[in-house]
Amino acid sequence: MAGAGTGSQGRTGTDGVGFSRRRLLGSAGAAGAAGLVLGAAGGAAGYAASRPDEPTALTAIGATEAMFHGKHQPGITTPLQARGHLIAFDLAPGAGRKEAAALMRRWSAVARELMAGRPAGGTDGPGHDTGIALDAGPSSLTVTFGFGRTFFDRTGLTGRRPAGLDPLPPFSSDQLDARRSNGDLWVQIGADDALVAFHALRAIQKEAVGAAGVRWQMNGFNRTPGATGRPMTARNLMGQIDGTGNPQQTDDDFDTRIFVPSAADAQGASGAPGAPDASQDWLAGGSYAVVRRIRMLLDDWEKLPVDRQEQVIGRRKSDGAPLSGGSETTPMDLDKAGPDGRLVIPDNAHARISSPEKNGGAAMLRRPFSYHDGISADGTPDAGLLFICWQADPFRGFVPVQRKLDRGDALSPFLRHEASGLFAVPGGAAKGEYVGQRLLES
Ligand code: HEM
Repeated sequence: MAGAGTGSQGRTGTDGVGFSRRRLLGSAGAAGAAGLVLGAAGGAAGYAASRPDEPTALTAIGATEAMFHGKHQPGITTPLQARGHLIAFDLAPGAGRKEAAALMRRWSAVARELMAGRPAGGTDGPGHDTGIALDAGPSSLTVTFGFGRTFFDRTGLTGRRPAGLDPLPPFSSDQLDARRSNGDLWVQIGADDALVAFHALRAIQKEAVGAAGVRWQMNGFNRTPGATGRPMTARNLMGQIDGTGNPQQTDDDFDTRIFVPSAADAQGASGAPGAPDASQDWLAGGSYAVVRRIRMLLDDWEKLPVDRQEQVIGRRKSDGAPLSGGSETTPMDLDKAGPDGRLVIPDNAHARISSPEKNGGAAMLRRPFSYHDGISADGTPDAGLLFICWQADPFRGFVPVQRKLDRGDALSPFLRHEASGLFAVPGGAAKGEYVGQRLLES
């Protein structure tokens, strides 16, 4: 199902995203602009600002708010946002567990305030706000925090490092830049407004001063919600509809595939993905993010005629339907042969090789941002995918699938994996708690 998944830009029926009624558009003057916005937001029309003294009336896009507190951190099942920033930090020399805990407390407070559309220096928030996002509302801002392998050594918590943070194996097609890979701490920021996203990036960076230094930073984007007449799965920079095969929140096994269970929940479910013992309960409700900066060799790709491009993926470019027939949501028929006796979804097609059916059920939730960092000296665009996938255990999700893609994916000649990160993303913070508190204070 494409329409309601994280691969789509639909704004309805999604956990942890709500409309902040007090801030919704109430002015007829903005109705022209709001037509598209409210169409995409579904059901928001008719709300009026309940506080006429509110300085800024917001469209539904500006007013949409993702929840900071909850079982899971935001930014995992939240619909793709138009703008994204990824930033990794290393703890400062001499900083350890105490400083890390204080930083996570400050970062969580900033994230909570900004996600609610309040300034970072609000009544009970820390710091000094830059004012960059003053007029825009929450705009579906999410801030998600993860810990890298090295975080546990730096904080004296090596004994509590989960097995899921073992280093990823090398892949033959890797051309990784170590300086743009991994890191002690990772923050993913997403928002439907570029200023709101940048504002959060600045606030996160400023709160880190003295405790952690920036290791790398990357910027990404997706289609703007409301730009299409109906919610659609996003396209990537190769022009493909990307996200169709994602696990859906309505699937019975969605949670067990994507989120780490608590020790109690894992008991009896022997072999459950990422089955932790009680010392790992800080990760319950959390997930693992694999982050890859994958450059697309667009000049080569765009030379392929569309029918060859479709063979590479195994799906139609126009509407994402499998080459075996039907529409985007029709399951692929991997056994179907054409009149010439050959498989219609070729043996080396990307969607075939990566499908859970061909990988012992291995599945991940792909939630990427496209990126474009200008034109290289040789005239080729430095553009591609900030591939981010979420799973309960990266060694049962990303790793086996990437191993297989590495061996025979028809898409590989058009890609270059340039950076890589693996992060354990703790469960969501309860009210009054900060992210990672259960690890850092127990
Ligand atoms: C820039 C790199 C990549 C591009 C452009 C790309 C593109 C696509 C496209 C167009 C599809 C078909 C539509 C869909 O189901 O989303 C797809 C499916 C998929 N891709 Fe990729 N992909 C890339 C990298 C990767 C990597 C690195 C992995 C994991 C190691 C991966 C795993 C998957 C999976 C699991 C599916 C769904 C298969 C299914 O169940 O139908 N992809 N990808």
